[in-house]
Amino acid sequence: MNAPATAPADQSNAPAWVRHQKLRQWVSEVAALAKPEEIVWCDGSQEEYDRLCAELVRRGTFIRLSDKLRPNSFLARSHPGDVARMEERTFICSREKADAGPTNNWVDPREMRATLHRLFDGCMRGRTMYVVPFSMGPVGSPIAQVGVEITDSAYVAVSMKVMTRMGRRVIDWLGIDGAFVPCVHSVGSPLEADQKDVPWPTNEKEKWIVHFPETREIWSFGSGYGGNALLGKKCLALRIASVMARDEGWLAEHMLILGMESPTGEKTYISAAFPSACGKTNLAMLIPPDAFKGWKVTTVGEDIAWIKPGKDGRFRAINPEAGLFGVAPGTSEKTNPNAMKMLHSNVIFTNVALTPEGDVWWEGMTAEPPKRLIDWQGKEWTPEDGKKGRLAAHPNARFTVPASQCPSLDANWEDPQGVPISAFVFGGRRSSTVPLVVEAPTWEDGVYMAATLGSETTAAITGKVGVVRRDPMAMIAFVGYNMGDYFGHWLKMGNAVAYPPKIFRVNWFRRDSSGRFIWPGYGENMRVLQWIVDRCQGRAQGVPTPLGTMPRFQDLEWRGLENLSQSDFDELARIDAHAWQEELASHDELFTKLGDRLPGSLEGRRARLHEILR
Ligand code: OXD
Ligand code: MN
Repeated sequence: MNAPATAPADQSNAPAWVRHQKLRQWVSEVAALAKPEEIVWCDGSQEEYDRLCAELVRRGTFIRLSDKLRPNSFLARSHPGDVARMEERTFICSREKADAGPTNNWVDPREMRATLHRLFDGCMRGRTMYVVPFSMGPVGSPIAQVGVEITDSAYVAVSMKVMTRMGRRVIDWLGIDGAFVPCVHSVGSPLEADQKDVPWPTNEKEKWIVHFPETREIWSFGSGYGGNALLGKKCLALRIASVMARDEGWLAEHMLILGMESPTGEKTYISAAFPSACGKTNLAMLIPPDAFKGWKVTTVGEDIAWIKPGKDGRFRAINPEAGLFGVAPGTSEKTNPNAMKMLHSNVIFTNVALTPEGDVWWEGMTAEPPKRLIDWQGKEWTPEDGKKGRLAAHPNARFTVPASQCPSLDANWEDPQGVPISAFVFGGRRSSTVPLVVEAPTWEDGVYMAATLGSETTAAITGKVGVVRRDPMAMIAFVGYNMGDYFGHWLKMGNAVAYPPKIFRVNWFRRDSSGRFIWPGYGENMRVLQWIVDRCQGRAQGVPTPLGTMPRFQDLEWRGLENLSQSDFDELARIDAHAWQEELASHDELFTKLGDRLPGSLEGRRARLHEILR
């Protein structure tokens, strides 16, 4: 039977199991614009994953690692100009500029749509267009959100299988009319007739990562790397989800979720926000030191948390992801033994170094580098090169691995109700000023602490290294609307549950006058986590300070860490009035930028701190 003259022909190449007409129609429209050579719908099966990986090996994008040393694992090397998220190319295109706010890049949505039309017209020529249905959160759970990503990158398609619940079961769940977030991605590098492909196609001239918050759409052009291309992660689960959360009364946050089990079996869950590259993955998989016999730390998530008011009057958190996209450099048996175990097989590595035996290496993995390597750009490398400052792995090199391989995975990690949260923890990388741990006296004080979070920058984002950047709630790059309104939403959410979590601020990175880190970090962070848990359970002591409640030396467990002296602790806890006046001036800079969208109570708290910290 012929279709009615007004309906566009179905050019989606959808298999019979796709019964959702709107989805077919949208795929047809994108195909008509991008003009791919073929369209493949991903079913999410292991056979499909293996076939696409083999295809990526054939095309030179993947190198298969030694089956003995790293079974079923691959190495990809990106284009040297496509190695990280690009915040300066990320846009929130709300109808009104003020709704994106001063911390987001904004372009009028009509103008942006015209730009995207120009960019996407024919951008998939000569390439395969993959249709990747995915669920953030367990398929079918009331808290899950479905997205469908159209991409011309097989690397993205296989990565989405690891990072999300992907494939036919999501289409089955959508049925004939379920809601989904449309996500369109292209590496922006069409292949003309007879043009040979390259291992990592990218657009060297322009990259765009675009969100339309009102229509809940995502368009990404020109990059194949990480959060620019795996659109379920930062784009959907944070930027678009933060808008949903504002509208529906929940929180979409850049937070890990961990469980702490005491020797008596009491379980306390904590959710913690840190800017990129502050050791979030290490904290989420922490192994307690020997002094904490009987304590266990379990992992629910290590990057993103969706947090909703539960029927029990507590916030309940889920990890919407199904995999980890972690920073490899610095990961070792010492810093994160659980991650090292997790990486034994089924891993996609990107931009790490290759050993002659067909295994991987990165800076910090072992004290001594191997004698010979191939670096992340495919060039010969020896330790002599390392001494001259040439890195074998890119500082933002990554591993992509299923969460199910995490040895510390929490038994409730897929509970659709989420786990009950007792504490929110906010931390940044600060070499001075900010004490080891402070508990906010009230929810509002905690929101102030979180809203003024700052961190010294590192390589996970492009830009200067070592400069303090204000990163409210570690969400500066991830709030899909006006930051002032986001602060207002946080203030409001304190009343959404009968038992709001306590809020803490931590800093593992304080240095002494010789530049040495005073706090040992890694597994020893357990000492602070235990105090936090004990505060939540009403057991631990602390003293009031102008910033909030802090532990005294005797309030923390020190067994097994005898070389951290009381005077070291005093330095970690020191509140320097002069440094705090500068700190508050810098808070004021952020607040001034937010203008009349800044909730008055936060400015009131800043003024009060200014008085009491003189
Ligand atoms: C990440 C980031 O990749 O925050 O998780 O940059
Ligand atoms: Mn992150």
